[in-house]
Amino acid sequence: MNQKSTPNWQFTGNNGEFSLKHPDKSSFLYFPLVNEGGMMSSISPQLHGQVTTGHNTFLTPPISVEDLHNSRGSRNFWVYVEGKGAWSAAGNSARQHAQAYSDSADESLLEAGLLWHRITRENKELGIKAEVTSFVPCGTDTVELMKIVLTNTGTEEIRITPTAAVPLYARSADDLRDHRHVTSLLNRIYTSAYGVEVQPALSFDERGHRINHTSYGVFGAEEEGGQPAGFFPVQEDFIGEGGSLDWPEAVVLNAEPQIGHGGGIHKEGYEALGGLRFASAALLPGQSRSYVVVLAIESDRINISRLMSKYGASAAFDAYLEENKLFWAGKVNTVEFHTGDDDADQWMKWVTLQPVLRRLYGNSFLPYHDYGRGGRGWRDLWQDCLALLIMEPGDVRSLLLNNYAGVRIDGSNATIIGQQPGEFIADRNNIPRVWMDHGAWPFMTTMLYLNQSGDLDFLLQEQTYFRDSFMSRCRERDSSWEGAAGSSLRTADGNIYKGTILEHILLQNLVPFFNVGEHNNILLEGADWNDGLDMAAQRGESVTFTAFYASNLYELSMLLRTLKERTGQKTLVLAEEMVLLLDSLGDAVDYTSVSAKLERLKHFYAAAPNVVSGIRANLDIEQVADDLAQKAEWIFAHLRKNEWVASEHGDGWFNGYHNNDGERVEGEKAEGVRMTLTGQVFPLLGHAAAPEQIPHIIAAVERNLFDEKIGYRLNSNFGGIQQNLGRAFGFAFGHKENGAMFSHMTVMYGNALYKRGYVQEGHKVLDSLYNLSANFELSRIYPGVPEYINEQGRGMYTYLTGSASWLLLTMVTEVFGVKGQLGDLRLEPKLVKEQFDQEGKASIKTLFADRQLEVVYTSTGSAGYGEYQIHSVTLNGAEVTLQRVSEGVVIPRDVLSALPEGQVHQLQVVLA
Ligand code: G1P
Repeated sequence: MNQKSTPNWQFTGNNGEFSLKHPDKSSFLYFPLVNEGGMMSSISPQLHGQVTTGHNTFLTPPISVEDLHNSRGSRNFWVYVEGKGAWSAAGNSARQHAQAYSDSADESLLEAGLLWHRITRENKELGIKAEVTSFVPCGTDTVELMKIVLTNTGTEEIRITPTAAVPLYARSADDLRDHRHVTSLLNRIYTSAYGVEVQPALSFDERGHRINHTSYGVFGAEEEGGQPAGFFPVQEDFIGEGGSLDWPEAVVLNAEPQIGHGGGIHKEGYEALGGLRFASAALLPGQSRSYVVVLAIESDRINISRLMSKYGASAAFDAYLEENKLFWAGKVNTVEFHTGDDDADQWMKWVTLQPVLRRLYGNSFLPYHDYGRGGRGWRDLWQDCLALLIMEPGDVRSLLLNNYAGVRIDGSNATIIGQQPGEFIADRNNIPRVWMDHGAWPFMTTMLYLNQSGDLDFLLQEQTYFRDSFMSRCRERDSSWEGAAGSSLRTADGNIYKGTILEHILLQNLVPFFNVGEHNNILLEGADWNDGLDMAAQRGESVTFTAFYASNLYELSMLLRTLKERTGQKTLVLAEEMVLLLDSLGDAVDYTSVSAKLERLKHFYAAAPNVVSGIRANLDIEQVADDLAQKAEWIFAHLRKNEWVASEHGDGWFNGYHNNDGERVEGEKAEGVRMTLTGQVFPLLGHAAAPEQIPHIIAAVERNLFDEKIGYRLNSNFGGIQQNLGRAFGFAFGHKENGAMFSHMTVMYGNALYKRGYVQEGHKVLDSLYNLSANFELSRIYPGVPEYINEQGRGMYTYLTGSASWLLLTMVTEVFGVKGQLGDLRLEPKLVKEQFDQEGKASIKTLFADRQLEVVYTSTGSAGYGEYQIHSVTLNGAEVTLQRVSEGVVIPRDVLSALPEGQVHQLQVVLA
């Protein structure tokens, strides 16, 4: 394969639109089509992919990424050209596959934008071109639309007979390997004027054998509403004995449809097909004919006349497509970047879209994401909020408040998240597992919210706690819990207990402080951020998350002091049991003693055994703040002294882990260097890494983890499976959580470098991520950031990744330095020279204080970062009196909230 000949995609418009020649020549490509109503599709250049509204309601067969090229069962649109034979407008026919490497191969071009997909395919020998446009209309209709325009590109008249063919799997993903055949016997297949509908009689899945109501349909119309000429509702009849979906007898032999015009006949008990035959038509040279195909999933029988009068015509399709483009542009353009590199700015539009995609798909339903049943994990829930705080800030307060209802009294949390906000479900599969990082994220996200909004009252708002049969961080079972009493924590006298959000946060960060292993770092438990470190639950320790928790404790102590200063609040009301964890207020614990810490924790568990007394303690806010600060400082000193790996190169880094044999994981060992990026990121992101340690860490990362070809690796090569650490090391080195460039950690590393003032270094990190992703020759992905780049440079698990949230956040708050400071706006740009355009400008449009702001930085002269300062600021042309802070300026919220809503306000910032 000559990779050099692979052209890159090109941006073609202002809203992220791009085109790619010969998308057929790259594998694994797919594109998301989705709406807020729950329709979740994916589409490949050959119209493969899947169409579903959830785990139990797949219209097409559920697939994994390999199926994109290996399975024949996809959306298809056939054209039988009289005298010349069958051709697939999707490029998905046995003949076209066989021609793939020959001169007879179709010419193909992909064009796509927010959120639509068009593939144009032409076969010169047949003299035919097909342009297939697909999208899922915005709004709540669970439909996917597809318009096919066939054009005669030859010099003679041709006669065509088109047939749409979409396999109607119509059931739960579980049935793929659980009675696939038997469940086809449940199918009730109806044909009517416009198409085929399947409503299985029962559903066989984990919910039991129940009457099924969900219906799935494929309908079509030609031009402005002409009905199909007939139907092929049964797959086996369509493909014929010995045939297949990529060479179906009904098309290849141009057979008469099984059911004629108007439908009306109903079939039972077979694998179904949305097979729609359109009337034969003559096409003169240059002449076109269009067809619209509608794929629909409904909770009951489909109202076909409503559906088709809305969507079943070419003009309607075009109108909804335009509406859809506007909808998505509106969403994505709440944040816009302008730098000296237009392509990079366009690319960021796709990154900006990604957090929204993750909100809609969860971590499932795209071809690489062939796991999960929808929904998101706890960690992702909180990190996805980071981006939503920037893009859709209106909803975030209630989202955060609801999420806190998942916290248990032992500082751990529910891991099964329900459909409704704030709905957490007890794990009835009895898998006792605690991810030790989970408690650390909520405070980080909440702090961002507080800074963006200044809403300190949020901290004092009350919320319930989650309770199930697990207690003491899954070390014990509550045999009294039966579920009947619900999933809310109660007091000894049976009332539902509520505590402030601040109390929830304190618990999440205080309990881990005491939950330490033999080296006095916080226990790894089930795993931390790296889900793959799951085999060290007894003795493993996560040093890196110890650093994260310590930074949280430190920030919390600062926040309490601010709370007192700003609101005059002198005391804190907390569950009385928590005083045990604020040990310095009473019976102080010796922090150097692991056993003393564990003893205190046991004491706390015993005092609040899945139930609380309901009695509150009134504590002095300063004393609580002091307690937290002492704990934080103790950890910082401990980590700097005991977990620093001194390198023989003169620099060093933080050891990130201890394994299940109690051994330090990282270091320059006889068998090679063992180092993790994760180990560095959290000490850098917070306060654990001392300023003088930072350059050493950077040097060690560059030496041990940076690889020209794939960027910053997640870890060096540990050289084999690590049964005392986790399954990640079972992956081949250079893949996923074992030594790939894992975008999430790379972006956090970049973010941390910016935060600590290492701007050139941070820029290098983000730039490498962009260049790796946007280099199509190697990455073979559409614009956007992938979950990881594998050892060959290929981008993997596209679209759904937490790294997009972090990248967006980093661009807004660090690179462009537009950030909240307890409600006020702080401007602290960290732009490097090449990010300014030719006129010395770089700008960002973003929301702050419910106002659309455009912040335009103008750098006079050729000053790069470190050489400029904010010289002056005007707001809509009027000079702003500046409040200078260390590296930037603060504009009080009042100034912004006095501005009218619904228009863009200009902040012109001169850097000199
Ligand atoms: C994924 C998960 C995330 C986890 C990470 C590492 O990353 O979603 O929760 O921390 O793997 O195991 P993402 O896909 O968000 O980049």
